[in-house]
Amino acid sequence: ISDAATLRATLRATLRGWRAAGERVALVPTMGNIHEGHLRLVDAARAQAARVVVSVFVNPTQFDRADDFERYPRTLEADAWALASRGADLLFTPDVETLYPHGLDLAAYVEPTHSAQPLEGEFRPGHFRGMATVVTKLLNLVQPDCAVFGEKDYQQLAVVRALVRELLLPVEIIGLATVREADGVAMSSRNQYLTPAERALAPRLYQALLAAAGEGAAADAPLPAIEAYHTAALNDAGFRVEYFRFRNAQLAPPATADGRRVVLTAAWLGKARLIDNHPFDVA
Ligand code: PAJ
Repeated sequence: ISDAATLRATLRATLRGWRAAGERVALVPTMGNIHEGHLRLVDAARAQAARVVVSVFVNPTQFDRADDFERYPRTLEADAWALASRGADLLFTPDVETLYPHGLDLAAYVEPTHSAQPLEGEFRPGHFRGMATVVTKLLNLVQPDCAVFGEKDYQQLAVVRALVRELLLPVEIIGLATVREADGVAMSSRNQYLTPAERALAPRLYQALLAAAGEGAAADAPLPAIEAYHTAALNDAGFRVEYFRFRNAQLAPPATADGRRVVLTAAWLGKARLIDNHPFDVA
């Protein structure tokens, strides 16, 4: 469905039919340019629910840089094929006017607080506010029983969980492990901005996360020194590191009592801003 005038009514009618039949509905929100990472979310959604709705919407309010929004790859035809053959029941592809009927100077936002402040929040001002706002709109339109998100965007998943809890949204949030290429690089639409030479370097980011997780697994490990070491090593290798940091699983600063930690990074490689993370147990 994509016609702005009938879209919301058609969506509601379809969903009403499914609900009347007692079918559970899962939502997989995406910005399109579908790859295997997205398709695994669809698999997980199908395992949870009789009906799977996938949204493809490049959300203007979550981009902190206009050029990133403009050049974001839009491949709707290929996406539709991939999603349909993986068993998605409904592809929801609203245009900007459908999701933002009163323009982009919004009358109300969803503003996530604590979980949105560090890490990505420091480097992409406004990003999580736009993301949380559009995810809330999508949840309100589709009213799914569950929604599936990837751990690839670890902080995004934490922000979504926090907003669902805080706003009492009646939806179950399901998180799925990061899907990687054979060489460890996390699948991402932005990988295609890498030159062949940069792509050859890209696996070092995940290798650094794995090494840091090994070094940071002891309860009393010298985490700031490990962060500083890998930041410098990646910068020397040709990355431009924005952050490389340990947190506990809830993204609070790590403490000796934590049972689980995550190491998260964002780094530029040429024109691509790569983000990745690795959750691990404390020994
Ligand atoms: P997008 O980047 O298209 O990602 C859609 C979903 O796919 C997110 O939940 C993301 O975490 C997941 N994903 C992407 N790459 C993955 C990988 N390699 N392994 C596992 N999951 C992966 O994230 C967004 O879109 C947007 O912010 C959105 C939530 C749709 C709101 O606009």
